[in-house]
Amino acid sequence: MGTQSPATRFFVRVGVGRAGYAGRVEPQRIEVLDRGLWAFARPFRALDTLEVGARMTVLGLEDGALLLHSPVRLDDADREAIRAVGPVRAIVAPNLWHHLFFGPAAEAFPSAERWAAPGLSRRRKDLSFHGELGTAQPIFPGVEWHVVGGSRLLGEVLFFHRASRTLVATDFFFHVLHRDDALARTYYTLSGTYGRFASSRLIRAAVWDRAAARETARWILDRDPRRVTVCHGEVFDVTPGSLESALRWLLV
Ligand SMILES: [Fe+2]
Repeated sequence: MGTQSPATRFFVRVGVGRAGYAGRVEPQRIEVLDRGLWAFARPFRALDTLEVGARMTVLGLEDGALLLHSPVRLDDADREAIRAVGPVRAIVAPNLWHHLFFGPAAEAFPSAERWAAPGLSRRRKDLSFHGELGTAQPIFPGVEWHVVGGSRLLGEVLFFHRASRTLVATDFFFHVLHRDDALARTYYTLSGTYGRFASSRLIRAAVWDRAAARETARWILDRDPRRVTVCHGEVFDVTPGSLESALRWLLV
């Protein structure tokens, strides 16, 4: 164990080990998506009613620090697991709707920079941010980011983790393959996302500037991601043509 990195020691401790490094650990504690990329998937009920689930993605930066994308509710063991992987450099509330657990995450990692999606600091005046992405242009080594164009309702910032070629989305894409809960099934079916990788009807309807949103589609395709993490549903492994298909509503 002495020559292992803190991250490897942690994975050995939780039973992942080197052989399983690139696999996914379900359902508890931590998903190991790739080298330098982890996620915490947790149950979450929207409006205390609708079980939609939530996923926080942890992006490893080139200097070994971490970026927490869309924090979920974290317990002591979760926080310990994150600290075992690396120091938290930045915490991001990546759209106007994903900020409920930002405050507790900021308290848990007080030395981290706190970044908000465009417009969020007006909505959450109780939270303290270093700035809004788009107005400020912070650099996260090894990670690119892009403000989704043409949608006031969403205010989403997409991230791209270069080393693993992973696009990190919040609500711009859903990938819900199955829900036991009938209400959740109905919700996703009505939103046009049940059982498929897609943007919801609500997101599509909220796009008021298609030219700007088309820039976003091009930004995504230019990155050529091989995987997309979403906050609601399963991690999506990109297959030939699948991204183009999910973005067709913007590209036509
Ligand atoms: Fe969401």
